[in-house]
Amino acid sequence: MAPFTLQSYADAKKRADQIAIVTGDRFMPPWKADEGKEKFTDAHRLTDAEIALIKKWADSGAPEGNKADLPPAPKFSPGWQLGEPDVIVQPTESYTLGAEGDDVYKCFVIPTNYAEDRYIASMEVRPGNRPVVHHAIAYLDTSGGARKLDEAEAGPGYTSFGGIGVAPSGALGGWAPGIMPRMAAEGSGILLPKGADIVLQVHYHRSGKAEKDLTKLGLYFAKGPVDKQIRTMILPNRELRIPAGEANYKIGATRRVQQDITVLSVTPHMHLLGKEMDVNATLPDGGSKKLVRVNDYDFNWQTIYSLKNPMQLPAGSKLEMTARYDNSADNPTNPVNPPREVTWGEQTTDEMCIAFLNYTIDSEHLTKGEPGVAGGGAGLMRRALEMFDKNANGKLDPDELAAALEYRAKRGGGL
Ligand code: HEM
Repeated sequence: MAPFTLQSYADAKKRADQIAIVTGDRFMPPWKADEGKEKFTDAHRLTDAEIALIKKWADSGAPEGNKADLPPAPKFSPGWQLGEPDVIVQPTESYTLGAEGDDVYKCFVIPTNYAEDRYIASMEVRPGNRPVVHHAIAYLDTSGGARKLDEAEAGPGYTSFGGIGVAPSGALGGWAPGIMPRMAAEGSGILLPKGADIVLQVHYHRSGKAEKDLTKLGLYFAKGPVDKQIRTMILPNRELRIPAGEANYKIGATRRVQQDITVLSVTPHMHLLGKEMDVNATLPDGGSKKLVRVNDYDFNWQTIYSLKNPMQLPAGSKLEMTARYDNSADNPTNPVNPPREVTWGEQTTDEMCIAFLNYTIDSEHLTKGEPGVAGGGAGLMRRALEMFDKNANGKLDPDELAAALEYRAKRGGGL
């Protein structure tokens, strides 16, 4: 996992003190949520007792245990983890990363050209040049905006740090070390709209010499009829304005759930000043459910937190996201020093404040011709209610309507 192997006793003994330090401060294994294995799939979080045991082992000279108790070494299968994909797509040419400079965030536009909508059960990313690919996310764009950005920049792909420079119409998933692809539950899938472009955003870490990369995506189509679309809901606050020097700036967003839904995963997203994010739900009966708490956010270790047991939220539930930022000079990840006021934007020096939730709609039965969301105006109204009906009375009161209209005007229409 690490930049060196830690699979044998000899490997571990050699670095015992370093292992005790990086596990002690929870730098390793890189898992930023408070909750671990019991709640999320692929959670690699150590318990306090495990951390204490590692320290005790290192402090007592890293003794070797009984060889007979050794578990079998893990087997890492080369190639695609989910078997041969239905389709493999990739950028048209490989990208050359120079030897020196800052990290690079490149977006590669990959047209899909399908004549009809398709449903994706899973997507697997295979980094072409693993040592320099830090992480990769595949977004969807049906606006043609990403193509324009690509055309405007010479060479393969275009540069965009935070998002992809346009509002994505969806996302297929992503890869970071340790993230294993998973098949969606039978009968569900992510919509790949006809004609959509996949926008593959790759974060590159330089190695000190010029490197080439051609990262591939394996697409697995849903087998059999899809009854439920896996959708993405966002809880954003674009109004953030973090004063220079402020070490604990707090901002949040709420959203009312309009129909019974089942949440599959939650993904906090901030940039380099983000330090904490909580996502909770208050149920109509007054009860509450905690989706995730990240108390040590790190842009480099963003995670799609997939719930082992998908969480049902009844209509009327209130989702609440709270984020905290450190824009002080003491924050080692602050990209600007001395600090200056930071607002919403795509650049390394801007910030974002979003929780993404993947979910399905309980009443949706596509196989019976019962879609979960009415299109057109009704869809827009539902969205307005979700975002602005703060007192949950099912309509927009004058102050809520004013907030919705102001928001819409700022964004040039749409919600
Ligand atoms: C108990 C389990 C683990 C231990 C003991 C461990 C140990 C370490 C150590 C000692 C380092 C070097 C830190 C340094 O240079 O200061 C490291 C770095 C690293 N580890 Fe781990 N690790 C563990 C799990 C993981 C997992 C699960 C992943 C991937 C999901 C991972 C990915 C990495 C990466 C990418 C680096 C380089 C980080 C950087 O350069 O910023 N490790 N690990």
